[in-house]
Amino acid sequence: MKFYFAPMEGITGYVFRNAHHACFPSVDRYYTPFISPNQNRPMSPKEKRDVLPENNRNIPLIPQILTNNAAQFLQATKVLSDMGYEEVNLNLGCPSATVVTKGKGAGFLGEKEKLRAFLDEVYEQTPIPVSLKTRLGMRDPMEIVELLELFHPYPVKEWILHARIREDYYKYEPRLDAFEVAAKKSPFPLCYNGDIFSVADYERICQRFPRIQSVMLGRGLMANPALVRQIQGGSPCTKEEFLSFHNRICHGYEEIMSGDRNVLFKMKELWAYWENLFTGEEKRIKKIRKANSLAEYDAAVSILLEQADFASDIKKS
Ligand SMILES: Cc1cc2nc3c(=O)[nH]c(=O)nc-3n(C[C@H](O)[C@H](O)[C@H](O)COP(=O)(O)O)c2cc1C
Repeated sequence: MKFYFAPMEGITGYVFRNAHHACFPSVDRYYTPFISPNQNRPMSPKEKRDVLPENNRNIPLIPQILTNNAAQFLQATKVLSDMGYEEVNLNLGCPSATVVTKGKGAGFLGEKEKLRAFLDEVYEQTPIPVSLKTRLGMRDPMEIVELLELFHPYPVKEWILHARIREDYYKYEPRLDAFEVAAKKSPFPLCYNGDIFSVADYERICQRFPRIQSVMLGRGLMANPALVRQIQGGSPCTKEEFLSFHNRICHGYEEIMSGDRNVLFKMKELWAYWENLFTGEEKRIKKIRKANSLAEYDAAVSILLEQADFASDIKKS
């Protein structure tokens, strides 16, 4: 089984990725949060920094592109291929209203003829293989049947399928019956994505879909950075490991961001996931959230880590 770290916009950028790969090297591949090309440029300076090879040394990384314009997709792919990347991923899953109303991300799944023309052009001209990351459909999980037909003629490198429709966003249970239709019929390597938060969740997916050879984890791996290691039979995350991981991320942001405020904002975002590692520690975690300076933040984190119990097996489901 191969394990992929899901792309998460605003979270899994190169600072986070480097820290995770150094501390928990069990993940086979990372995906960048989406790059959004436009008519003026294949990527923004921030997006470029995120994919620069010198910022991702020794990290197995697949850049992801979000667009519904084939020429812009191909331009960005050319830049990435020139940097040395050997695969790019097309985002057909983003559910956010601003993306979907422009007919991009999951919104592109609702415009089948336009999507077909886009894929014709992309697969004919791309200099490197293209994989897809999609949902089951826009409104109805059985749209998966049409998507299977639509994708069938193309040399799709891999199909990462989040077992939800656009209208689910990240809510409700993954729709495993619809995923099974793709698992049975996909002519391409199919990767399962959706709600793997524990070893037991992973085992249930393997039992139900024995032919799957890769899984992608997002929120579960954010909440428990050692989850892949545990799935592989290894030990849970220790407090010392967590602190070292945390400090690498924090120092990484301090190096590239100016001012406490921005660093604090980025670190506090991560605690929405990490709070699951601590049980009954709402008060101490609130202190972290309320910190107004990095000094206050560091003190609050130190107190939490000195005094709290560490729940290495998070969010059992
Ligand atoms: C905050 C956030 C940001 C995300 N950003 C992206 C993104 O840039 N590209 C993408 O394909 N999916 C993105 N996703 C979706 C995840 O990659 C993944 O498909 C989803 O979280 C389901 O997997 P999980 O249940 O393991 O978290 C994002 C999800 C979240 C919660």
